[in-house]
Amino acid sequence: MNFLDKIEIKGKKLLVRVDYNVPLKDGVIQDDHRIRASLDTLNYALDQGAALIICSHLGRPTDKREPEFSLKPAAVRLSELLGREVKMASDCIGSEVRATVQALAPGQVLMLENLRYHAGEKANDPEFSKQLAALADVYVNDAFAVAHRAHASVVGVTEFAPASCGGFLLKKEWAFLGQSLADPEWPYVAISGGAKISTKMDILNALLDKADEIIIGGAMANTFILAIGNSVGRSLVEKQRVSDAAALLEKASQKGVKIHLPTDLTLGQGIDSPASSGVCRFDAIPEDSMALDIGPETIAQFKTVLTHAKTVMWNGPMGAFENPAYAQGSLELARIVAGLDHALTIVGGGDTNVVIKAESLSDKFSFISTGGGSFMSFMEGKELPAFKALKEGTK
Ligand code: 3PG
Repeated sequence: MNFLDKIEIKGKKLLVRVDYNVPLKDGVIQDDHRIRASLDTLNYALDQGAALIICSHLGRPTDKREPEFSLKPAAVRLSELLGREVKMASDCIGSEVRATVQALAPGQVLMLENLRYHAGEKANDPEFSKQLAALADVYVNDAFAVAHRAHASVVGVTEFAPASCGGFLLKKEWAFLGQSLADPEWPYVAISGGAKISTKMDILNALLDKADEIIIGGAMANTFILAIGNSVGRSLVEKQRVSDAAALLEKASQKGVKIHLPTDLTLGQGIDSPASSGVCRFDAIPEDSMALDIGPETIAQFKTVLTHAKTVMWNGPMGAFENPAYAQGSLELARIVAGLDHALTIVGGGDTNVVIKAESLSDKFSFISTGGGSFMSFMEGKELPAFKALKEGTK
């Protein structure tokens, strides 16, 4: 697979696929870290004397051009971060866009409008891919967060572009997730949290071949607690996954992978109830209560497990962290992992990033992936369509 630093780009036009699928509220960007994450690639290309045509999706518009999904706010923010003008196109293909691209000089930046305003994007339509590719001399994919989607601007375009390569963000994600976690320094402790075991089963199974120990928290731990013969009161569980959880525990013991489940839990009446109703042991959850966070004894136990780790991968919160009454476990864990000076610490998946940002700990981790779904697919051991296309399309 080629990366940007291996390609001659002086005086060329680059079509750069980024993922600026940023959270917006009333047209205001709530978190610009995906835009910042693309700056290395964009600044490098501009310094080399390229002209940039930037393309992205934003949200999931229906087949209408809903204005709330316009990339205009992202263009404005990018212009501030780059310290230069970013022109906004009215579309991503068509004669008007072609004319604007034609007039683009080295050092200039054009942002195309939301790719998902065209059905051809998600359908990986060859005609749409061809029109995108025709805009530029080189296609650069720097959109790890959408690398799991076989869409036209991710996959199809590589068939028609004169040259294709990955950008520096894609390279960084590849190095940390693909290399560091494929061949980790031991002990490798993986932390898996979040609400649903069904969305994490493939990751957990893949981790059994890599990790030495796995910490499990969040509502998905309830299904494991049920699987080892306890009742969980009104806690969130996936009953149809209890046998999978039991099988995973059995497989882990055969492989010598230690699984750490919570030993105590913080209780409440519901995710929105403003105060917790105390802490109990994992085998004594009252019938009328819900486990909504890990308890203090569990936090201490997880800390002990993590202290000797050389590699840590964390995905998913430890409880219903959106409610401050049940955020303690996730926040404490963020502080513990951030304090592991001698370990490579890698975090991925949207919710986990939110926890870390809430504590302003982002710079204390070795790497925070920009991927949500793509991070999960990567962790499941799947080959992501973006990487496959870049490998096959390298010209
Ligand atoms: C994400 O935010 O995970 C990516 O931008 C992909 O978005 P999608 O799930 O709408 O394809």
